[in-house]
Amino acid sequence: MTTLDKKTLIEDRVNKGLHGYWYPVAKSVEIKANKPYGTQLLGQKIVLWRSPDGSIKCLEDFCPHRGAPLSYGEIHDGDIGCRYHGVIVDGEGVVKRVPAMPECALEGRKVLTSYQTTETNDAVFVYVPSVEQPEAPELVLPQEFTGAEWTGFLCTSVWNTNYRYAIDNLADPMHGCYLHAESFTLAYGAKQDLMKLDKTDDGFRISRVGQVGENFDWTEFSIHPGTLFCYLDIPYPQVAGPGGNMRIVGFVMPMDERRCKVFFWRMRAVTGLARESWRFLYRAKLEAHHWAVLEQDRVMLEGMPDDARRREMLYQHDLGVSRIRQVLTRAAKSQIEAELAASMVAAE
Ligand code: FES
Ligand SMILES: [Fe+2]
Repeated sequence: MTTLDKKTLIEDRVNKGLHGYWYPVAKSVEIKANKPYGTQLLGQKIVLWRSPDGSIKCLEDFCPHRGAPLSYGEIHDGDIGCRYHGVIVDGEGVVKRVPAMPECALEGRKVLTSYQTTETNDAVFVYVPSVEQPEAPELVLPQEFTGAEWTGFLCTSVWNTNYRYAIDNLADPMHGCYLHAESFTLAYGAKQDLMKLDKTDDGFRISRVGQVGENFDWTEFSIHPGTLFCYLDIPYPQVAGPGGNMRIVGFVMPMDERRCKVFFWRMRAVTGLARESWRFLYRAKLEAHHWAVLEQDRVMLEGMPDDARRREMLYQHDLGVSRIRQVLTRAAKSQIEAELAASMVAAE
């Protein structure tokens, strides 16, 4: 293999999404015990459902008989049945029954890939194994998910753009005072600045040099084996009710090369009565403002060409963008090298 081939493989892996990570794929309420839920993760169709004990099953969305999507089927006693000819598969990907054919040899065979799942803070996460890390490591939870003072709402949205654009956007606080300049919470602060990048215990922080607490002024990326997320603060005007800044915790799920799903938890550290009043105010009024801001991001990113990277001209403000790309590329390189090494061992 030439260096060029390897470079292409690495670039391709970054573009499709890294293996070896936990990705949120759906809101908890979307995964039901009586209806399968189909989606796509890293270009692979997957199906999820809830078994009678409440745990979540996830398989590749492919019927072992002739390939019909299992997500079009039904749930029978915790197993999934294909709509086309009725084949039933359990949550581990083993064929339980072939009702149309007595004593069919398919029965009892494990034929489908199953994925590990976990559920936290109203979201369902799926682990995509890698050669380096076939077993799921612990999903590292943002401290806002576990701290009792925090409360919030999960909002998700499918964006018709590669997930890297969504991540770059999060690593780029400077867009706040331009793209969102007319918005309710992001209309403040200077329009000229420099950016700085600082290492943190578990990743990095990209922040504006000239201001903090005025606008979307910084983002922190938290990077662990198997988990990658970021968080940022949106300062609230007085009229937005009790509590301090609104914290956004963000995860991005690559669906395929042209689509991603963003998962944003909008959180606030408020307790007691203030918490109840904020939750009410959020539902009644603030949520619409935040959707409007998110739509501005979506529309902008969807309007960018898939290969913008080939012509872009970065400047000082893109420090965060460059760093997160470097993180993804390094992880992809190590995955591809592990895969190549494993395939050489297999060929021997
Ligand atoms: S394709 Fe699923 S049972 Fe035939
Ligand atoms: Fe934005």
